[in-house]
Amino acid sequence: MRITVVNGTEKRGVTYHLKEIFLDQFREDAEITEFYLPRDCPNFCAGCTVCFLKDEHLCKDAEYVQKIEKAMLAADLLVFASPAYVFHATGAMKTMLDHFGYRWMPHRPAKEMFGKRAVIITQCLGAGGKSAAKDIRDSLSWWGISKIKACSFKLMSEVVWDKIPEKKKTEMSERLVRIAKQTCKFDFTRPARTGFITKMKFYMVRMLQKNLGKQDPEYTDYRYWNHNGWTDAQRPWKQ
Ligand SMILES: Cc1cc2nc3c(=O)[nH]c(=O)nc-3n(C[C@H](O)[C@H](O)[C@H](O)COP(=O)(O)O)c2cc1C
Repeated sequence: MRITVVNGTEKRGVTYHLKEIFLDQFREDAEITEFYLPRDCPNFCAGCTVCFLKDEHLCKDAEYVQKIEKAMLAADLLVFASPAYVFHATGAMKTMLDHFGYRWMPHRPAKEMFGKRAVIITQCLGAGGKSAAKDIRDSLSWWGISKIKACSFKLMSEVVWDKIPEKKKTEMSERLVRIAKQTCKFDFTRPARTGFITKMKFYMVRMLQKNLGKQDPEYTDYRYWNHNGWTDAQRPWKQ
């Protein structure tokens, strides 16, 4: 089993420790690839739109983005971990997600994503963990992933790992281990089922792409949809 992890911070802090507790449940059987942000995707999207209009490999940051994409596409399970910064995922996480705008369903979603499973781990002092998870979930669901489990923690006391009371650490560990054990039970030899909402989004975008294709058959996103057969009878969750 292959797991790709994107860490929204390079700090070996609370988020890091929670993510490690989760991954410990998989270490014996899994090949784990980790990315730490901002180190592994350090630059902002400049808004040049070359990825949307021409080719993602022409992005000034393609060397970073494509390395992460390759690892995500090869993975059976994706894990995203981020603290809440001012009620949202870290700026580094947002920067990385911006680079994958071209993979949103209205553009050129990767067919592999429709069968993936993902876990999002966020934590905060008092509030904002859930909205941080939503920032990440928004991208994942528009990439085509239906099976997303979000797990948000509120520390409510200390934000330094070594100072967090043992009782609180045990509570958080038990919850993470429970989620990891549930995740382990999935049959990773088969893709996850694509849900109703993902399919609805696909059919809405399909209509849009067909209209765009009538106006300009050379339009990049339309050509991609057409090439995959999605404007005809093919579906990404069946390929
Ligand atoms: C810039 C910044 C903004 C933060 N914003 C929030 C917030 O909006 N809500 C909250 O409950 N905690 C907030 N925190 C606390 C973090 O979510 C987190 O609990 C803390 O940084 C410890 O996690 P870490 O060791 O993984 O960095 C913030 C921390 C930082 C550094």
